[in-house]
Amino acid sequence: MKSLPFSYCFISFIFFASINLLLAADNITPDVSIQDGETLISSAQRFELGFFSPGNSKNRYLGIWYKKSPETVVWVANRNNPILDSNGVLSISENGNLVLLSNTKSIVWSSNISVNVENPVAQLLDTGNFVLMDNFSRNSSENYLWQSFDYPSDIQLPGMKLGWNLKTGLERYLTSWKSADDPSSGDFTFRFDINYFLPELVIYRGSMKMARSGPWNGVFFGGVPSSPSLIFQLVMVHNQDEYSYWYESFNNPVVMLAKLNQSGMKQWQIWNERSHKWDLVYSAPEDECRHYGHCGANTVCCVKKTPICECLKGFKPNSQYNQTSSKGCVRSSSLDWEGGDRFTKVEGIKLPDLIDVSLNESMSLKECQAKCFSNCSCTAYTNSNATGGGSGCLMWFGDLIDIRTVAENRGTQDIYLRVLASELGYSC
Ligand SMILES: *[C@@H]1O[C@H](CO)[C@@H](O)[C@H](O)[C@H]1NC(C)=O
Ligand SMILES: *[C@@H]1O[C@H](CO)[C@@H](O)[C@H](O)[C@H]1NC(C)=O
Ligand SMILES: *[C@@H]1O[C@H](CO)[C@@H](O)[C@H](O)[C@H]1NC(C)=O
Ligand SMILES: *[C@@H]1O[C@H](CO)[C@@H](O)[C@H](O)[C@H]1NC(C)=O
Ligand SMILES: *[C@@H]1O[C@H](CO)[C@@H](O)[C@H](O)[C@H]1NC(C)=O
Ligand SMILES: *[C@@H]1O[C@H](CO)[C@@H](O)[C@H](O)[C@H]1NC(C)=O
Ligand SMILES: *[C@@H]1O[C@H](CO)[C@@H](O)[C@H](O)[C@H]1NC(C)=O
Ligand SMILES: *[C@@H]1O[C@H](CO)[C@@H](O)[C@H](O)[C@H]1NC(C)=O
Repeated sequence: MKSLPFSYCFISFIFFASINLLLAADNITPDVSIQDGETLISSAQRFELGFFSPGNSKNRYLGIWYKKSPETVVWVANRNNPILDSNGVLSISENGNLVLLSNTKSIVWSSNISVNVENPVAQLLDTGNFVLMDNFSRNSSENYLWQSFDYPSDIQLPGMKLGWNLKTGLERYLTSWKSADDPSSGDFTFRFDINYFLPELVIYRGSMKMARSGPWNGVFFGGVPSSPSLIFQLVMVHNQDEYSYWYESFNNPVVMLAKLNQSGMKQWQIWNERSHKWDLVYSAPEDECRHYGHCGANTVCCVKKTPICECLKGFKPNSQYNQTSSKGCVRSSSLDWEGGDRFTKVEGIKLPDLIDVSLNESMSLKECQAKCFSNCSCTAYTNSNATGGGSGCLMWFGDLIDIRTVAENRGTQDIYLRVLASELGYSC
């Protein structure tokens, strides 16, 4: 009789322990931490958070992956600071921060926020976002104290913003992995550039531009395919707090991601339930013309032609020009500013880069032409806003860089180029 209470306790302990295993938690609090080998699973079983070793590496990283595709790691906490053994622990520290500790209890990674949190809780959401909040009932996005979506790795998930928090100056952008075995920051970044008034999507290698979209014109980014939009939709937010964009899935069951891979390619992938693999739906840059400024200044890059580089109307090859490696083009004759120059419409292109430009969002196209015409250094102009028939005035001064022809389903734009009246008739 005396042993009964003990076995009762023991049995119920086993019972509750197995319940815990069956229903993996989606959150941690200061009382609960995650050891290497344990994981959090989001409530609808979409994402899992825990420790992993990528590829052939033995290093341990804290990351988030798809439950149904564990090799697809969508976020890494300590990407540049691996743990060398399996003694890592994720917990919430006394000051309410998420901290990743090594076996020597030194901090390997931290959410590093500086607010006082009374009842901190960190939850893995079904969107793949890992969020820290004060008190479970304050679980809406404006109350997140920290979120993994603000610190992207190499993957943009639906609902995850890239771009700028204009209040704090925080820029969210993708950074490629170094290799399949090493998630540390690679050479490539994918950024939402707002340096020149209108956003462009740019792939950089270090500080060098490798490829760019045309500027956002209120409807699309020039040269970016519209085909993925059958599955997901691009959402742009511009207000005084932020300038950013994200993808929203039309068809919720579709599991998709956009990844900047180790070779600097942006890949859109969709999960195929039948094959249990990712299908590649699109990747960029897709051809030679996508390489930034491939043909040099004042050219049009046209993959359907050989050679692919051609001078803009009114320009001739400069002295170092050769057909396989263009060094760009210069004006063939000086423009006759006394009325011999006109504008010619170049259609179906990606607009030149915004290097020396001026923008007036309230001008009409007609006013824009008059303004450009009246200024000798204005080389081209176009509407900045394609919504509702077009408005706004975007003018270029100096050389025109990185113009290419674009297939019709890829968001084409038009530009009005200053030429001599006698040279009208350019086409690519
Ligand atoms: C934490 O943030 C402070 C200031 O915001 C910064 O100086 C410090 O380097 C950060 N520490 C870590 C470990 O990121
Ligand atoms: C959590 O927040 C709610 C509403 O803001 C409040 O009523 C509740 O007392 C808080 N709980 C704790 C444990 O702080
Ligand atoms: C968020 O908090 C509200 C209010 O406490 C609660 O009803 C709801 O279930 C919570 N949602 C999640 C996803 O935890
Ligand atoms: C990156 O993506 C491109 C295009 O999909 C592919 O050809 C290339 O092999 C990928 N690179 C790596 C390292 O996976
Ligand atoms: C063109 O220029 C490139 C780089 O300067 C050079 O490698 C190539 O041989 C040249 N091609 C011709 C046909 O001159
Ligand atoms: C933009 O154009 C409008 C109409 O021509 C003009 O009134 C306004 O001053 C211009 N704004 C700037 C900043 O130049
Ligand atoms: C032409 O436009 C440029 C750039 O906006 C400006 O610096 C320059 O003063 C203008 N020139 C004239 C004659 O208006
Ligand atoms: C673009 O044009 C649309 C329709 O005319 C207008 O609603 C929108 O505010 C404009 N956007 C900007 C940035 O001016």
